[in-house]
Amino acid sequence: MTSVSSVIDDLAGLDTEDFSQPKEFPLMPLGQAVDMGHADDGTPLIDPRIFNSPEFFRNPYPYYRILRDHYPVYHDKLHNTYWVTRYDDITECYFDDEGFNTIPKGSSSGVLGNTQLELSGIEHRRRRTLYGQHLVGESLKNRIPAIQHLATEMIDDWDRAAEEGSEYVIDKDGVRTVELGMMFANEFPIRVVCEVLGFPKESQDDFYYWYNSMMSGLGGSDTHKVGLEARQHLEDYVESMVEARRIEPTYLYDLEGNPVSKDIITKLCETKIDGDYLSTEEITSNIALVVGGGGETTRGAILNMWYLLLQAPDQFAAVCADDGLWDLAFHETLRHSSSIGGQPRHNSFDIEMHGVKIPAGSLMQMVDFSANHDERIFKDPETFDIFREDLYSGKILRSGFRKEGRCSHMAFGVGPHLCPGAWISHQEAVEGSKILKQRLKNPRINEERTPKDIDGKFAPTGIISVRGLWLDYDLT
Ligand code: HEM
Repeated sequence: MTSVSSVIDDLAGLDTEDFSQPKEFPLMPLGQAVDMGHADDGTPLIDPRIFNSPEFFRNPYPYYRILRDHYPVYHDKLHNTYWVTRYDDITECYFDDEGFNTIPKGSSSGVLGNTQLELSGIEHRRRRTLYGQHLVGESLKNRIPAIQHLATEMIDDWDRAAEEGSEYVIDKDGVRTVELGMMFANEFPIRVVCEVLGFPKESQDDFYYWYNSMMSGLGGSDTHKVGLEARQHLEDYVESMVEARRIEPTYLYDLEGNPVSKDIITKLCETKIDGDYLSTEEITSNIALVVGGGGETTRGAILNMWYLLLQAPDQFAAVCADDGLWDLAFHETLRHSSSIGGQPRHNSFDIEMHGVKIPAGSLMQMVDFSANHDERIFKDPETFDIFREDLYSGKILRSGFRKEGRCSHMAFGVGPHLCPGAWISHQEAVEGSKILKQRLKNPRINEERTPKDIDGKFAPTGIISVRGLWLDYDLT
């Protein structure tokens, strides 16, 4: 009898080599790929086990280049996934959310609840507009002083931490050594979102715990249960607020104490659709998604930006001399070392792309990392250069941007699901960094504590954000 997989193989015209046994790959100099063999015509072959290897995690770009050049749609039978790696193909799929829908993503189900990430079309748009308006434009502009205030408060706290002997803030011989993740970037984006949502100050610690548990709950079966419990606690907490907020709305204030607008939770509690209030479950899912979407991603952007800039002293000196350049640094960081690798989509119909037949309902991974390093769009893509002329760094647009040779990076996606937090994360990273720059005298990467690569230089960001970033700076 013909098996399903052999039918799919026939459809896709693929060979049937067995890649199921584990394999180790040597660590290569950055930018060079392991030789996985060649076809008769000289085309480099891909062993899909490479995608799980430490080599790939630290040095993905030569492999993405092979995919882009030779297999722009690669059917990885080991992971039962079609990898799409060219910028133009990915943007086309993102814009077509009927042909390439986000249903069923599933990985967040349960932990984050029934979120809009898994919706398409009208239902998706309806959910998105519920809170999206509070993360952009005037509402966001009004939040900037509060963002600056939160950043200042966190940095002020380092003195206390050092005195109390924190292992993440160490003073010695006039130099302070600080781990920027633990002391700033991990929590800062959560604090900002917590405030914009309108969570009472006294619940912030709980909120941070729920966030961490839900995030680790997305990662695996052993942490899934903790993630689900955290979500349930969050939902119970939200339930206890809903009635009160409908009777007595709460507001966001500017630094002078004037009300700016109702906070997001109040808005969600007041929203009626066809005469019915949103359910607590719907409100909680919206909150969980905003928090889930905005924490780890913005953390990674801040850490990666500092890591890359401090390794490029001329560029760091330039941003220090001109605050306006932080915007360029933020966008170039997200192009060069985004904190999100890509997004899954499912094709609604049988299709053929680059000669590969893809049956309806297949899992297609849009590899944003690869789009951001597509040399068809970005010259010399492996180089971090905040002054590059081919990257669009203006106002983030749902349509992306393509004018006079400049394209937007793909870190926020494009089209209907373009990250609604793009603007606020931009402000967090840029405003937070300006304040860090003012407060940290002569900052540099701590050579001893920072992980090194096989050549003894600082480890590459690879496909994950910097795990931690140890900085030294002068106290006087
Ligand atoms: C540097 C930081 C960030 C990056 C790189 C990032 C990246 C992304 C990407 C790529 C998507 C598109 C998902 C898709 O196409 O399926 C997305 C969606 C989303 N992001 Fe972000 N994000 C960031 C910050 C934030 C922040 C700060 C928030 C909230 C305040 C947020 C909330 C969301 C939400 C709610 C969605 C779902 C949008 C939808 O499906 O319509 N993100 N994000």
